[in-house]
Amino acid sequence: MLYTEKVMDHFEHPRNVGEIENADGVGQVGNPKCGDIMKMYLKIDDGVITDVKFKTFGCGSAIATSSMATELIKGKPIEEAMTLTNAAVAEALDGLPAYKMHCSVLAEEAIKAALADYYRRQGRPVPESLRLPCEDGEHGSCCSCH
Ligand code: FES
Repeated sequence: MLYTEKVMDHFEHPRNVGEIENADGVGQVGNPKCGDIMKMYLKIDDGVITDVKFKTFGCGSAIATSSMATELIKGKPIEEAMTLTNAAVAEALDGLPAYKMHCSVLAEEAIKAALADYYRRQGRPVPESLRLPCEDGEHGSCCSCH
C-alpha cells in the first residue's frame, strides 16, 4: 500500500479544515515544486495556540499532513509549534512516500508564516526560525507567504 492507514484517515477525514474569522495569525504559502497553496489560521491566547484551521488547494498528502500538523500544534505553546518540522509530521502519519515529502513542507511553512504574522501583528520582532526561504527571495514569485 502506497499510503499508510493514518495518511488515508487524515485525507478522508481531515481535522481542522476551514478558516478562523478573527484569527491572530494567518499564513499562506505556495509549494514551489507543484504550485499548490496552503493557508493556515491561528487563534492564540496567552502564548498558546487555542485554535487552528487550514484550507488548501493541494493534493491528498498536503491535506493529510496539514490535518496532522494542526492536531500536533493545537493546545501547544507557540514556542513548541515553531519547532514542528515536516519530517515530524510525516513520522506522526507513519511515513509518506519519498516523492510526496515535498507536500508536507506546505504545512510546516504555513504554520511558520502564520506565527510570523502573529509576531508582526503584535509589533514584536519575528524570530529567526520563522523566516522562510522565500523571504530571502529564494522561491521567487511562486511563494506568497509574506
Ligand atoms: Fe502539491 Fe502535494 S502535489 S502539495
